[in-house]
Amino acid sequence: MKRIQYHEYGGPDVMRLEEFQPARPGKGDVLVRVKAAAVNPMDIGIRRGRLKMVTGRTFPRALGHDFAGIVEEVGDGVTQVRPGDEVIGAAGLKAAGAFAEMVLVEEKSVVRKPKNLSWDEAAALPTPAITAYLALTKKGRLKAGQSVFVAGALGAVGRSAVQLAMMMGASVGGSCRATAVQEAHDLGLSPIVEFDFDASRYARRFDVILDTSGQLPLTSAKTMVKRGGHIVDIQPAPAKFVRAALPGPYEVLVANPDRADVEQMVRAAEQGVLRIPIACVVPLDSAIPALAEFERRTGPKGGKLIITPEPARSVGLRSAARSDPPIAPRAPEQRPRFPGVERGQTDRGPVPQRSVATVQLRRQQRERARTPPPTPGGLDAASGAHASSSARPTTMPSGPRTYASRKMSS
Ligand SMILES: NC(=O)c1ccc[n+]([C@@H]2O[C@H](COP(=O)([O-])OP(=O)(O)OC[C@H]3O[C@@H](n4cnc5c(N)ncnc54)[C@H](OP(=O)(O)O)[C@@H]3O)[C@@H](O)[C@H]2O)c1
Repeated sequence: MKRIQYHEYGGPDVMRLEEFQPARPGKGDVLVRVKAAAVNPMDIGIRRGRLKMVTGRTFPRALGHDFAGIVEEVGDGVTQVRPGDEVIGAAGLKAAGAFAEMVLVEEKSVVRKPKNLSWDEAAALPTPAITAYLALTKKGRLKAGQSVFVAGALGAVGRSAVQLAMMMGASVGGSCRATAVQEAHDLGLSPIVEFDFDASRYARRFDVILDTSGQLPLTSAKTMVKRGGHIVDIQPAPAKFVRAALPGPYEVLVANPDRADVEQMVRAAEQGVLRIPIACVVPLDSAIPALAEFERRTGPKGGKLIITPEPARSVGLRSAARSDPPIAPRAPEQRPRFPGVERGQTDRGPVPQRSVATVQLRRQQRERARTPPPTPGGLDAASGAHASSSARPTTMPSGPRTYASRKMSS
């Protein structure tokens, strides 16, 4: 069996694809044959040693948390899944090991995969979706009818938060890069602003401010939040916990979900209202360079980097065969609702429809109208990152020029 592991904390050069012997599942453990694993920023942070107080100094250490796969073997006392079941899961923070052919996890870390999700879509969900859900519900205490602002609305956590907040009956605005305004618009966001927007235009507009990037100035968040509202930061740091302990709207989240939270996520995905787009799928054999590019942020934007232990040729073949339609935003009355979400006070008024990004949006619409449609099988069709949330793209394109073209095409 192969997996990506490292023998010391450090940069991309410490990663190795090596043989390993998966342990037999102990009491309460589940051994899963990985079909797809998704890369998260925390995988990089952990490998760099940022959590070594928790993850320790025993090497080699495995990499990767979120995965989808098939249960191979279960240990004593496992009741929720059995061999052959298709599951979604997240490996423990310390054990990790999803960038592999096999991963060993606790039973509480896996749930059944809905049939309507592809392996890649399923693997993309666990950490971002659960973080978004906990940020909105446990820290943001979001209620139906309230308004949410998501800073970094098109990242994996941000996009999950947008979709879940809409599902909870909230109105959602957010920030994104100028080149991604059309995509934010398609997702149903309003208002849409760029990262360096003027917060004073949205004073006291939002019940919940969720900063997924750690880049939203606290003064801006405080300007925008309503009295009694919540500002949720998901970039924990010791000083932030001190600040969060003080009276006021500021909260810090460290996602630590229970099984019920995970089940909620899966239900939302099953109902078709929660998807994280896939930017790129790479085979395990060539995942290390892709991870390095992800880390330098020169990799594809607008979706997840997925690693699959399946051979490269089958990735390409399946990609060409897939034709699932993209997830389109639904009208509020058509959105499935989470059970038990309380109704909150309605917003004081409609959120401003015009935003600092409106000019850019119009310009992009004009440019799109002039651009000929992409050729089937060409770069745009293959990327699927912005055009479709579920098309399985081909293997990692090479070189920064490809990414620039991909970005221009978004
Ligand atoms: N506390 C927890 O338990 C927890 C759990 C999961 C994740 N996290 C953290 O949450 C963060 C987001 O994770 P993710 O998976 O969503 O990452 P991601 O997919 O890379 O998304 C990050 C988003 O932030 C955007 N961004 C960049 N600069 C920004 C700025 N100045 N203002 C606003 N947004 C900006 C990016 O836009 P571009 O793509 O256009 O650059 C991107 O959309 C990571 O740092 C991760 O470690 C915390």
